[in-house]
Amino acid sequence: MCGIVGIVGREPVAARLVDALRRLEYRGYDSAGVATIHEGKLDRRRAEGKLFNLESKLAGELLPGTIGIAHTRWATHGVPNEENAHPHFVEGVAVVHNGIIENFSELKDELIVDGAVFTSQTDTEVVAHLLAKYTREGLGHREAMLAMLNRVSGAYALVVMFQDDPGTILSARFGPPLAIGHGKGEMFLGSDAIALSPFTNEITYLVDGDCAIITHDRLEVMDYQGRPVTRKSQISQATAFMVDKGNHRHFMEKEIYEQPEIISHALGHYVDFASHTVKATDKAIDFSKLSGLAISACGTAYLAGLVGKYWFERYARLPVEIDVASEFRYRELPLSPTQAALFISQSGETADTLASLRYSKDEGLKIGAIVNVRESTIARESDAIFPILAGPEIGVASTKAFTCQLAVLASLSIAAGRARGTVSEADEKAMVKHLAEMPRIMSRVLNEIQPQIEALSRDLSRFKDVLYLGRGTSYPLAMEGALKLKEISYIHAEGYAAGELKHGPIALIDENMPVIVIAPHDRFFEKTVSNMQEVAARGGKIIFITDEKGAAASKLETLATITLPNVDEIIAPMIFSLPIQLLAYHTAAILGADVDQPRNLAKSVTVE
Ligand code: F6R
Repeated sequence: MCGIVGIVGREPVAARLVDALRRLEYRGYDSAGVATIHEGKLDRRRAEGKLFNLESKLAGELLPGTIGIAHTRWATHGVPNEENAHPHFVEGVAVVHNGIIENFSELKDELIVDGAVFTSQTDTEVVAHLLAKYTREGLGHREAMLAMLNRVSGAYALVVMFQDDPGTILSARFGPPLAIGHGKGEMFLGSDAIALSPFTNEITYLVDGDCAIITHDRLEVMDYQGRPVTRKSQISQATAFMVDKGNHRHFMEKEIYEQPEIISHALGHYVDFASHTVKATDKAIDFSKLSGLAISACGTAYLAGLVGKYWFERYARLPVEIDVASEFRYRELPLSPTQAALFISQSGETADTLASLRYSKDEGLKIGAIVNVRESTIARESDAIFPILAGPEIGVASTKAFTCQLAVLASLSIAAGRARGTVSEADEKAMVKHLAEMPRIMSRVLNEIQPQIEALSRDLSRFKDVLYLGRGTSYPLAMEGALKLKEISYIHAEGYAAGELKHGPIALIDENMPVIVIAPHDRFFEKTVSNMQEVAARGGKIIFITDEKGAAASKLETLATITLPNVDEIIAPMIFSLPIQLLAYHTAAILGADVDQPRNLAKSVTVE
């Protein structure tokens, strides 16, 4: 979702602002812009599409100035064109914004009656008009900012410059994150610390309801009544290196291949590799006493939660209520303080997941966050934090965060089983041993299957529709496979529980609809093979993802069989994630798609 950067500098800032925007590209955007103040005048360049369009404009018409703000826009209100791109200017006020101003329509009507002329279709422009109006009415900049903040509602990170004050940037946060960077005689702000990492690693995170003012050497934070508040700075570990592709063509490819190393690091936080036991988890949630768990998340994180449901119910005998967060938040689900709620989010900023968290908190539940970004809002509002330790995930399509979420959920379900007496010491040892072996198996699988998957992706790229089937924990994987393929290759794909095939989707089967069957040789294998038979009988082309035992047991003709090593059920979802990720990746790359930044998608979805 939109990215924001600002610099109160000593040297020209335009190039540095665009450089910082590049580190925010992963959030997703469809236009960009930059504004500076030079010799007492605001000026800006804006462009539709990718950052190189903005850079070409800046190369043609330089933008001098030592103070500036910049923005990558992910369109919500109004199409992605130059007029709607930020910064928005009204009478010497410049504004960039991430989020949604929910009452913009009523404010706009009021401002139009007052004589305001709008030049864009955005909700953001009302902010610039309000600030201009309050300034015209005689308020100082700070007072105008506070008056505006008391009028707008919704979710926003807002950054403002006034033409007649070329040494100050004002900002506010209510929802989407905003980080202030402390430099030497210069100050910065950005949507995250990675964007600012080449400039400084001393960061102050604003919290909801903060209004901040930065000058060359000072940060002042206040609430919307203007009362000072204290926010401590911290040293961020984010480095620009984290957004480097290394030798890979795309971040997604790099992130797929990073998984063995990263998952091993993440597991080290949850299990003891020497004694093969689970480590004590955050004590704020006591699994032994719970009557049930509620899990909520969006997209890929939700699908990780769905695998977690199978594990918590099977190993810890803990009933799990799970829903996508956009439904969970409005379902008025009866919850009890004897339950705990888990929220899974890579970014830790997803608006629907955060709203579900707040709903559950109001119902008196203890809250656990399975997050990648530890400084995120979801992490901060939780009682217990279970970090997935995946490092920054830049590719919009989630890969390493998914398998790390699974590794954390597997460890937590074993820990919960131990606490509840449903997992014996011997079972704990056996399962942790399998988890400990997983990184090595992942490395082997990634190396072995790559050539076959690349060749298979050429075939897959010729189809328009694909069906994925699986049972048990392979059912959420089937949905994840379909999600991955559709979001980056734009091939239509659906994931189904294999047993649901004959309740509808079987009508679609013909030679133009390949069916990808995910079936390790587990308790469900025979049943899934029966479903494959139903597909084969109707001329469907099967891509069979199985293990050595499964490949030996099935006699069906397939378009391709991808054979993985035989592994224990507790690690199968992580191992079987690898072929589905690679298949989506290579298919999209062959089709020439923008793999890391698929159209219309954002990495961090901070609006409903
Ligand atoms: C798909 C994908 C999305 C995210 C979803 C939730 O590949 O990445 O479906 O999983 O937007 O995002 P987080 O995990 O940041 O809450």
